[in-house]
Amino acid sequence: MTPSRTLVQSAIGGEYPVVVGPSALTQLPDLLRDRAPAHAYALVADDRVMELHGDTVAEAVGRLGRPVHRLSFPHGEENKNRGEWIRLTDALLERGVGRDGCVVALGGGVTGDLAGFVAASYMRGIPVVQLPTSIVAMVDSSVGGKTGVDVPLGKNLVGAFHPPRFVLADTELAGTLPRAERSQGLAEAVKHGAIVDAPYLERIVAEADALLAGADPATTRMVSRSVEIKADVVSRDETEGGLRQILNFGHTLGHALEAASGYRLPHGSAVAVGMILEARLGERLGVTEPGTAVRLQEAVAAVELPTEPPAGLSRARVMELLARDKKARAGSVRFVLLERLGRVFSGKGDGPPTWSRSVPEDALVSVLDGV
Ligand SMILES: NC(=O)c1ccc[n+]([C@@H]2O[C@H](COP(=O)([O-])OP(=O)(O)OC[C@H]3O[C@@H](n4cnc5c(N)ncnc54)[C@H](O)[C@@H]3O)[C@@H](O)[C@H]2O)c1
Ligand SMILES: [Zn+2]
Repeated sequence: MTPSRTLVQSAIGGEYPVVVGPSALTQLPDLLRDRAPAHAYALVADDRVMELHGDTVAEAVGRLGRPVHRLSFPHGEENKNRGEWIRLTDALLERGVGRDGCVVALGGGVTGDLAGFVAASYMRGIPVVQLPTSIVAMVDSSVGGKTGVDVPLGKNLVGAFHPPRFVLADTELAGTLPRAERSQGLAEAVKHGAIVDAPYLERIVAEADALLAGADPATTRMVSRSVEIKADVVSRDETEGGLRQILNFGHTLGHALEAASGYRLPHGSAVAVGMILEARLGERLGVTEPGTAVRLQEAVAAVELPTEPPAGLSRARVMELLARDKKARAGSVRFVLLERLGRVFSGKGDGPPTWSRSVPEDALVSVLDGV
């Protein structure tokens, strides 16, 4: 199977390719030579991924004949923080990496965000290339240029837009990913289908077993389609003024559920439930075609994600978290709602289309019935 190639247009970083496929890694030396030539490379990965794939990737990078510095950090979201940013930037300085260096971010979304932010800030910015190894990173975080770290007051609150020189997703590297982590990534793929491509959503459901097992060609086809969708959206709206909001489908409620659970509910699971509840919300408001929430529920179940909020969440707490979100956006809680599967509802006025809309509190309370 030949790797697929999608181009992302970035006003900030220029056009960059996303290459997806089994053994896509064979293209790494050429891509580095063409798009990210450097005096030295810093291969950044968490301890797990470094152990599993560090040698293979370091060998491929090393073919350019330049020094390859391996820098690892402990895995887990709790390490996507400023402390690790300090450690990594100091390590680059100690190894004498200069402005002509390049960061190779190998791993899941945590690594992509952290290493991307290191690259964005080191010596006012050096190039980064993204080598995603989790499904979340392949279908979502490696594309779009957002980088950053978490701080005590919230996730992703300190960061920068720093588009990569290229993204290379070798689906074979994801072969070592635990099944439950694959499910988490499939939540975002289901979202891509739900917002713009209903047949894609149906294909995810039909091929769920192969996708959960990490098998190809299903995985490559899925990642490629999700990348195309995300690339198309971020190419048209890089910094989230308008269209990029549609990628937040399922996320307004999802984030509130995730926070209300004290982050015990993983992000993909929270988004899965969030999409179902937001589809119900749309149906109650007469915006979303009836039956949409039920179909989404089936799709979410097919990829082994929860369809109901976990027991023991406080509805008052969820409402409070949504209100806080509202304050941050000055005004009302806004939701991206579907018109039907594969199409987002957009407000049509005289101005440009609005991709999100405010929702009356009683409708919101009613969909949170089970919470
Ligand atoms: N920048 C963006 O636009 C964007 C978008 C979505 C998510 N994110 C961020 O992404 C992060 C979540 O990403 P994630 O779910 O990939 O988390 P992660 O990077 O922590 O990876 C999950 C776990 O899987 C392991 N892993 C990764 N690849 C593996 C492989 N091939 N084999 C075995 N184990 C592997 C990691 O070591 C880790 O323990 C969050 O911090 C989130 O904020 C960013
Ligand atoms: Zn998400």
